[in-house]
Amino acid sequence: MAVDLLLGLQWGDEGKGKIVDVLTSNYDIIARFQGGPNAGHTLVFNGMKHVLHTIPSGIFHEKSTNLVGNGVVIDPVIFKKELDKLDTQNIDYKLSLIISRKAHLILPTHRLLDAASEAAKGKAKIGSTLKGIGPTYMDKTGRNGIRVGDLELDNWTEKYRALANKHQAMIDFYDVDLQYNLNELEDEFFAAVETLKSLAFIDSEAYLHNAQSEGKSILAEGAQGSLLDIDFGTYPFVTSSNTTAAGACTGLGVSPGSIKEVFGIFKAYTTRVGSGPFPTELFDEDGETMARVGHEFGATTGRPRRCGWLDLVALRYACQINGVTQLMMMKADVLSGFKTLKVCTSYRYKGQEINHLPYNIEPENVTPIYTEFHGWSEDLTQMDHASTLPEALMTYIDFLESELDIPIKIVSVGPDRKQTIFR
Ligand code: GDP
Ligand code: IMO
Ligand code: MG
Repeated sequence: MAVDLLLGLQWGDEGKGKIVDVLTSNYDIIARFQGGPNAGHTLVFNGMKHVLHTIPSGIFHEKSTNLVGNGVVIDPVIFKKELDKLDTQNIDYKLSLIISRKAHLILPTHRLLDAASEAAKGKAKIGSTLKGIGPTYMDKTGRNGIRVGDLELDNWTEKYRALANKHQAMIDFYDVDLQYNLNELEDEFFAAVETLKSLAFIDSEAYLHNAQSEGKSILAEGAQGSLLDIDFGTYPFVTSSNTTAAGACTGLGVSPGSIKEVFGIFKAYTTRVGSGPFPTELFDEDGETMARVGHEFGATTGRPRRCGWLDLVALRYACQINGVTQLMMMKADVLSGFKTLKVCTSYRYKGQEINHLPYNIEPENVTPIYTEFHGWSEDLTQMDHASTLPEALMTYIDFLESELDIPIKIVSVGPDRKQTIFR
């Protein structure tokens, strides 16, 4: 049985959590393949809002198994908080939530290193969520990391201590004013590790291979977005993992040939949280309207998200890198009421018009060239069928489909599970 992939095509927060939840009933297994608690995936149903950081977004469906894959980095402290929230909602995850032994652990000192590194960068900071993501992936690729499977060994705390001591020396090296009480942080960490150990640790690649041969269906859930990919994003203003399709192969151990559908999710406009270039960013009333109507605040940090028009140059690039087979357009409802909509269809770059993403998209290098569309005034949030969508929105959708040559299969018209129109 094939694996389907779902990932974000912009700078994250496209609405991945919502759509994984919507699609989960079609799958036996939902598997997160990269990232960590820098992610904030929001699900809304039955009048309740849930935000997940590390736990896959299929957790609210009784029948699905939810796997945290080897490519994910886990902070036991945040993981425990997520479990505690599920407990208050009487969600039984003991059998349905499983964890790869090969996933790496975020230690308290990884978080401190993240903070020290950002403080030392000053104005040039990445705008990290400060969850320790960069330092943990650095230890992974540097071959120093501690993995979930290590927790089953008697001497793992020795390994922990050696690594934490090294981290402390590195924190001192940064020479920034960082107030912390490591003893307190470690008490919290070791208590949370015990909670983590109450879940099943598995050899997840073998589990997924068996599941595939038994005919089970798998949906791989991405975190962040393609423009935050460590290789293909707006480096260095990116995260530290491969957020693109290839990341699902390395982050789960599934073969490229087993991947069937690649669902690419994008907002009908663009947002970005943290630092880094954003060619179509708006600093005017239109941008403020998007932020206000779309409630554009980070699900993990609460920071305001920067807003701008849809960037088709960047979207085309993301579709190519991921091999997207189906598109899903989110937050169409937020654009209701704009008289005119703009889509960036090419860039002016060094005096020339180009329609690919160049190496450097800083504002001094790139000026977006826009195509304008009529807006629509209808409220979309109660609409439940494609035939009821306003004509101006259909023109917008048709244009994007023809430019990208990929069908838009879902139009999302509100945060709720039910506010989802299939085409
Ligand atoms: P993710 O990280 O990709 O899962 O996305 P986030 O949860 O961080 O951000 C998406 C935000 O938009 C959340 O607050 C969702 O509840 C909300 N949302 C998702 N789809 C829609 C939609 O179609 N319309 C509106 N208005 N909000 C949406
Ligand atoms: P989801 O899965 C949006 C951004 C941060 C920062 C950069 C590096 O909810 O879409 P990191 O903490 O990884 O060192 O931060 O990446 N970032 C996200 N932006 N959504 C996310 O996840 C993000 N995860 C990281 O704001 O600019
Ligand atoms: Mg998010």
